[in-house]
Amino acid sequence: MTMRKWQQLDALCRQVRRTALGLMAGTSMDGIDAAVVTIEGFGRERRVQTLATHLEPYADAEREGLQTLIREGGLEALAAWDAYLGERFAEAGQRALTKAGLTTVDFIGSHGQTIWHAPAARLFGHLTPNTLQIGQPDVIAARLHAPVVADFRTRDMAYGGQGAPLVPFVDWLLLSDAHESRAVLNIGGMANLTILPAGGSPDAIYAFDTGPGNTLIDLAVRWGTEGRERYDGNGTRAAQGQVIPALLKQLLTHPFFEQPPPKSTGREVFGEALLQEILMQYALPSIQLNDLIATLTELTARSIAHALQRWVLNKTPIQRLIVAGGGIHNQTLMARLQALLPELIIESTAAYGIDPDFKEAIAFALLADCFLQGEPVAYPGTTGVSKPVPLGKLCWG
Ligand SMILES: Nc1ncnc2c1ncn2[C@@H]1O[C@H](COP(=O)(O)OP(=O)(O)O)[C@@H](O)[C@H]1O
Ligand SMILES: [Mg+2]
Repeated sequence: MTMRKWQQLDALCRQVRRTALGLMAGTSMDGIDAAVVTIEGFGRERRVQTLATHLEPYADAEREGLQTLIREGGLEALAAWDAYLGERFAEAGQRALTKAGLTTVDFIGSHGQTIWHAPAARLFGHLTPNTLQIGQPDVIAARLHAPVVADFRTRDMAYGGQGAPLVPFVDWLLLSDAHESRAVLNIGGMANLTILPAGGSPDAIYAFDTGPGNTLIDLAVRWGTEGRERYDGNGTRAAQGQVIPALLKQLLTHPFFEQPPPKSTGREVFGEALLQEILMQYALPSIQLNDLIATLTELTARSIAHALQRWVLNKTPIQRLIVAGGGIHNQTLMARLQALLPELIIESTAAYGIDPDFKEAIAFALLADCFLQGEPVAYPGTTGVSKPVPLGKLCWG
């Protein structure tokens, strides 16, 4: 690499106003989220503005192909999917850039698509925490002619973290308040909470996954409608169904809910296998699809409320729950959350100028900015790292 490249990057990092693209694909596997933003200033004084967003949906065949890859593995398939998703992430980014009227950005932060996440793995008796996000960042950098920061989770694990959740630092940057303790909830495939004590430094943040978000609901809808529907639009099916008390009780005994934070989970725990187990016990037509969906929706609402009551409210008296992620569109889920947590103000990140469907994509643009500034974004309280560390690695454009 020529000296010139480093100098260019150094100059770029010093600009007060930077343009960036954030790329994210979550466990829901609905598609690739892209957000083009401008970032002004440094540290806590950063101001972020969204110029354009784009959701590049996965085609059914892509989603099924990814699910097969996750289930069956295979090195040839893995390497091919990595390159292929690199192209798809670049396309998603390109479409967002076009909407923003830009041809490129100063830099890109790309999360990739998680296909494996095993924070407690062991090999030959050694702890070998590992995680794999694909969507080759070199491909993205080459197509969009900008440096790409990627592989945020592996570095976190190398420093003793769970590799998740990574967005809490950005929640702190964008949503913390000097006088009010707040929690930020993301309802994606899984659901996670960030707690922002009033006036706290990043050391005071704590965060953890609460359990399932939309994944089990999505899987049940897809299974029950033979793929005609992909999710419970607005929570209509859940609203029409009745919770099955025995099933709900059984699901709530899952050990994950009593595990103290920091903790993270994924489709390996609350995904296809768990739904299969449920269906072995409660086969249709002995139960109604909408009752199953109502039960899984209640499971998400209860596990979030329980997490707040069990691990948060006794030490941080939060007054406000700020919500993002696709689950915010599930009105039944949101109504149940408010009913279970009557003392909290529950609102969307939209109230703070952040599109709730793109908060994570915006976050990865900011995490890339932090990487370039050498700023720690993972803290002992968020992922369990042994000390605050910056995350990411760089691919030159
Ligand atoms: N109108 C809607 N009604 C109900 N659920 C919705 C709606 N729109 C999106 N969702 C849910 O949000 C999910 C996508 O959320 P997202 O935040 O992108 O999750 P992830 O980060 O895991 O990809 C969808 O799979 C679906 O379950
Ligand atoms: Mg998504």
